Amino acid sequence: MNEADAGTTPIRPLVAGNWKMNGLKAALSEALAVDEALAEAGQAVGADVMICPPATMVMVLSELSGKGGLQVGGQDCHANSSGAHTGDVAPEMLADAGAIAVIVGHSERRADHGETDRIVHEKVLAAHRAGLTAIVCVGETIGQRQAGLTLDVVARQLSGSIPDGVTAENVIVAYEPVWAIGTGLTPGTDDVEQVHGMIREHLSGRFGEEGRRIRILYGGSVKPSNAVELMGITNVNGALVGGASLMAKDFLGIVEAYRG
Ligand code: 13P
Repeated sequence: MNEADAGTTPIRPLVAGNWKMNGLKAALSEALAVDEALAEAGQAVGADVMICPPATMVMVLSELSGKGGLQVGGQDCHANSSGAHTGDVAPEMLADAGAIAVIVGHSERRADHGETDRIVHEKVLAAHRAGLTAIVCVGETIGQRQAGLTLDVVARQLSGSIPDGVTAENVIVAYEPVWAIGTGLTPGTDDVEQVHGMIREHLSGRFGEEGRRIRILYGGSVKPSNAVELMGITNVNGALVGGASLMAKDFLGIVEAYRG
């Protein structure tokens, strides 16, 4: 368990699974197995655990899970609450379906859909309007890292994507180096500590005590074999997990890093 680095307030970590565009009905059993395992473990798990399935599964997962406290989130939302936006999902719809959070600004959305910091900023506000916690993703590309621009890029994404006045309850930051996503590569622990430290400074500088309590997740090739090391880094308050969240066994192996 990470304590807030100001040293006073404990931060409850979050292990969140991002299923991306994966998950047919048959995959429900994996998510429900996670919920079952959480129910069995009870207080022994010192972290919140969430799965963000595709939008098609948010309602059914919300309705069937919860025994073990499994939380359900969406993967993206539109900034509007309704209207002529074919194929999009409003945050109000996710909330109505039982989600308590939504990922915004994932690098795959930024790359595939041209999402800018300004758009992500609007989505964070929209998530809050609907009562959802926004999980705001930031992270540099390999080119940016090699050019020594990591801290600048992440700082700019934080400034542009996170609106003023947010709280530790309605925002979570996920640092996901683009080059670490789905590649099996992870930054060194010093690199993670440096970026998370900068993110913490940014958040506490802007939001004071709230900023000291906002959770900062690490994402990018987290798996059971590296979870203990990554989750033990200062200012890492949990994980955003892609591939390894699809199977209950792997995902629970990561949650295990927080077993007391
Ligand atoms: P992987 O865990 O598959 O690298 O994906 C990370 C990610 O993008 C989570 O949002």
